[in-house]
Amino acid sequence: MLSVKIEKELNKQLNREYFSAYLYMSMAAYFQSIDLSGFERWMQVQAKEELSHAEKIYNFIHERNGKVVLEAIEKPQTDWESPLAAFEDSLKHEIFITGCINELIKSALEEKDNATDIFLQWFVTEQVEEEANATKVIKKIKLMKAAPGGIFMLDKELAERE
Ligand code: FEO
Repeated sequence: MLSVKIEKELNKQLNREYFSAYLYMSMAAYFQSIDLSGFERWMQVQAKEELSHAEKIYNFIHERNGKVVLEAIEKPQTDWESPLAAFEDSLKHEIFITGCINELIKSALEEKDNATDIFLQWFVTEQVEEEANATKVIKKIKLMKAAPGGIFMLDKELAERE
């Protein structure tokens, strides 16, 4: 059984995961608007991953006899000044999410809620990958700054994300 505090915090994290999906779909739409369909695809896949994170939390709250409470999802930013700026924002967002997961674990430990602690360990590992994925693309965009046309090669590569 979840404590009232952990139930509330898990619901907050659920909302953040839905917001993450929304943010990445907004980035996908931005890339669509500048005709970078590979970048768009990468962000669409990322948004789907976020929905799967939300689903994990949704199911966990239910399994622990808690109640899922959906809140309004904040309107995401809709434009960026460059592909680099969008990916830098995505990394910033993932670092924020990592911090939220760490705070949630701290609360779970304070409440002696081992099940929630163990559940959240999956997210700890996932956040390492999430930050690494965004960092990898940022590094590539920076490397390609000096190479005209490089962005189109990267667009082709990002289109292959499964
Ligand atoms: Fe679900 Fe990208 O954190």
